[in-house]
Amino acid sequence: MPDPIGPAPVSKPAEAPSPAPTPAPGEPTSERVRGIFSLIARRYDVFNALSSFGIDRLWRRDAVAAARLTRTSRVLDLCAGTGDLSLALARLGRPAAVVGTDFVPEMLEIATRKARAYKGRTTLAFEVADAQDLPFPDASFDVVTVAFGVRNLPDRRANFAEVYRVLKPGGRYVVLEFSRPGFAPWRWLYHAYLRFVIPAIGGLLTRDRGSFVYLNDSIRSFPDQGALAAELRQTGFSAISWEDRTGGVVAIHVAVK
Ligand SMILES: C[S@@+](CC[C@H](N)C(=O)[O-])C[C@H]1O[C@@H](n2cnc3c(N)ncnc32)[C@H](O)[C@@H]1O
Repeated sequence: MPDPIGPAPVSKPAEAPSPAPTPAPGEPTSERVRGIFSLIARRYDVFNALSSFGIDRLWRRDAVAAARLTRTSRVLDLCAGTGDLSLALARLGRPAAVVGTDFVPEMLEIATRKARAYKGRTTLAFEVADAQDLPFPDASFDVVTVAFGVRNLPDRRANFAEVYRVLKPGGRYVVLEFSRPGFAPWRWLYHAYLRFVIPAIGGLLTRDRGSFVYLNDSIRSFPDQGALAAELRQTGFSAISWEDRTGGVVAIHVAVK
């Protein structure tokens, strides 16, 4: 409320609004990320399968194992996209419920369509939500997962704090994300693949090479395994561990509330 006996507000001369600054190459702004995923939604699954030679399915399988689900677990899958991890959680982990969320409706439409074929015991639902501001009560999930999502968040710490809030005490946050191979020759090869091959495949499939240049930049500017673990620890998580897959191309971090 304005202070009734305080100084009268000084009116400022009108200023022309300054244009929004251009984001740095790998910087994930919400507008940029929304734009990219709404544009590539229909080709996203094909791109994933081609660009990872199908290994992405094995990475998601291992993320499900790291979640250590039981029949009564309630799971929140963030940045669920076209639903591949949500479906793997339901099919392989068979928990009580999986809620998949994403802030791009075009991605979730595909997830919802794919989920129609699922006939198992798990209650599977998708809803639109920003991973940095979750519409769920405190301590409402046993496990939260995210695959290839945290790299795209402008405010990772806001996400970590929100996940901490919605997890039950003892609950697990499982983060599957691109990372940094430790063996230098493998890392150089991988970085060359990201720089030259990924934009070429992505450009052919979607005619939007720029989105895939962003993908390369965002992977290369993302913290390595140890730095990501430190960020999780600073948010209050404990017992943080990680395992590399494919020589560190991806890592699966687990953090406990
Ligand atoms: C690379 S896709 C990963 C999809 C899926 N998890 C998978 O494993 O294939 C990243 C997803 O994160 C979503 N995303 C990015 N920023 C988000 C945010 N702030 N809140 C919710 N979803 C977000 C994008 O819309 C996109 O669907």
